[in-house]
Amino acid sequence: MPTLLHIHSSPNLGPSVTRSLSSRFVERFSASHPDTTVDVLDLAADPLPHFGPANMAAAMTPPENFSEATRVAVGRSAQLIDQIMRANVIVLGVPMINFTAPTQLKAWIDHISIPQKTFRYTGPGKVEGLVVGKRVFLIAASGMDYSTAQGKAFDFLEPMLRWQLGFLGMTDLTVIRAQGMRMFPEKATDIMAAAEAEVDRLALG
Ligand SMILES: Cc1cc2nc3c(=O)[nH]c(=O)nc-3n(C[C@H](O)[C@H](O)[C@H](O)COP(=O)(O)O)c2cc1C
Repeated sequence: MPTLLHIHSSPNLGPSVTRSLSSRFVERFSASHPDTTVDVLDLAADPLPHFGPANMAAAMTPPENFSEATRVAVGRSAQLIDQIMRANVIVLGVPMINFTAPTQLKAWIDHISIPQKTFRYTGPGKVEGLVVGKRVFLIAASGMDYSTAQGKAFDFLEPMLRWQLGFLGMTDLTVIRAQGMRMFPEKATDIMAAAEAEVDRLALG
């Protein structure tokens, strides 16, 4: 029985491209895998705090000396890590904001990237990701098009997430991009239609 974790990170709570496409994916996937349990994490509607002093203290202080704030921070990380460990399928809706992922998603990455919990050092220069066995679908939108050689040089969204998720063990990553809708408004309908077709193909496959 698959457990699907659907993560929204668009700060647009209205007609967002990634909210629409990722919700479409989850609907189609659930229809073709009727025993799916869906868990939703909306990082914009219910934002996480930045990784701050209370989180930092957790790495440097023995648990018996944790402040209340550090206990809360550790508990929050543990809940987020449990949530991702429970999932078999992860659907990430991610808009590009200032050439990379939105701050809401970065906060989530910071809260789940904890040594011994989601990755561990196994020897000099060696690291093992512990979040394994997940199929991850990244559904990303951007106003400009980064598919050209020139565009790729300024894309700090997909390479960053590919690296960071892979570092934690999530190497089975499929990327669907809806890009260029602001740069080429006359093509926006076609770009969206192509992304929807890709979503349907992958979610029903
Ligand atoms: C504050 C802000 C910053 C943005 N920065 C970029 C950017 O650096 N590059 C880009 O191609 N698009 C950028 N965009 C456009 C969004 O990525 C695009 O509108 C996307 O469809 C948003 O996804 P959403 O509708 O799911 O929120 C930006 C939009 C906003 C509102």
